[in-house]
Amino acid sequence: MARKTRKVTIVGSGLVGAACAYSMINQSVCDEIIMVDRTFDRAVAQALDLSHCMDFTSTRTKVHAGYLEDCRDVDVVVLTAGANPKQGQTRLDVLEEAEKITRDIVTRIMNSGFDGVFVVAANPVDIVTYIVREVSGFPRHKVIGTGTSLDSARLKTLLSDVFSIDPRSVNGYALGEHGESQFVAWSHVTIGGKPMLQILEQHKERFKDVDLDEIARKTKDAGWEIFTRKGNTQFGIGNALAYIVRSILNDDHKIIAISVILEGEYGQTGVCVGVPAIIGEGGILEVLELNLTPEEQRKFDHSCVILRRAIESLPG
Ligand code: 2OP
Repeated sequence: MARKTRKVTIVGSGLVGAACAYSMINQSVCDEIIMVDRTFDRAVAQALDLSHCMDFTSTRTKVHAGYLEDCRDVDVVVLTAGANPKQGQTRLDVLEEAEKITRDIVTRIMNSGFDGVFVVAANPVDIVTYIVREVSGFPRHKVIGTGTSLDSARLKTLLSDVFSIDPRSVNGYALGEHGESQFVAWSHVTIGGKPMLQILEQHKERFKDVDLDEIARKTKDAGWEIFTRKGNTQFGIGNALAYIVRSILNDDHKIIAISVILEGEYGQTGVCVGVPAIIGEGGILEVLELNLTPEEQRKFDHSCVILRRAIESLPG
């Protein structure tokens, strides 16, 4: 019996959506990608351009333009369409416009009979994830925000420079809001399985100039470092999206710091926030509760307060 075709719709064929599609094609994540955009011609252009990758890839991914109404038999909808903050704004500053766009898009997707998994990158991603879950009425395991997955990747990249190792040999998380109130759970960062704080303690002289607050700040501001130079980010978030989608479609059971609405974990309920979770077939298999230090728990709670305020301010 022929295997079911694995289909992914990408809503928003701009730089992030196109980067996500390009990553998925080069990593053979799915069989078919449908590019959707409010400007149909842009979806057509991206699909055509992406289709020309196929002679140079190890597998074929069919790519074409489509519509929100075509999502009935789609496995995953990637939501990148939203509002972009301007210079000097925060991601939360575009909340009102993001809400309008999200409500319209998700309503139309649900009317198509979609019953797959939402993977959300549109900012402010924690709040947009909350809105997607509310409008779709889906159980939380089917609504995943990229959360602090990209921030955690940025943290590992920074630490790989400090310790001169491959970022993939660093394990650890940025947690909380994908935004200004995020923080690094330093007590859980390991290098090759060894607690990083222990390494710093045991090699004080060698690592005397390591400033953890500076590294946490650079992690949080990494997006802006890029944004101020080229007006957007695309490749990091594109790969984060492809990584999450691949874990869903392949049932990889990868542990990724994603945004999900909490149901009592970390003492919080009813707020979408970046936490580690196991991602597999059908979406979120389990939310992992780290044993945060009191200081880390305080920062986590603070991030949840910021996100709750934003949710309460939603006009919709
Ligand atoms: C970033 O930090 C787009 O918010 C995303 O790059």
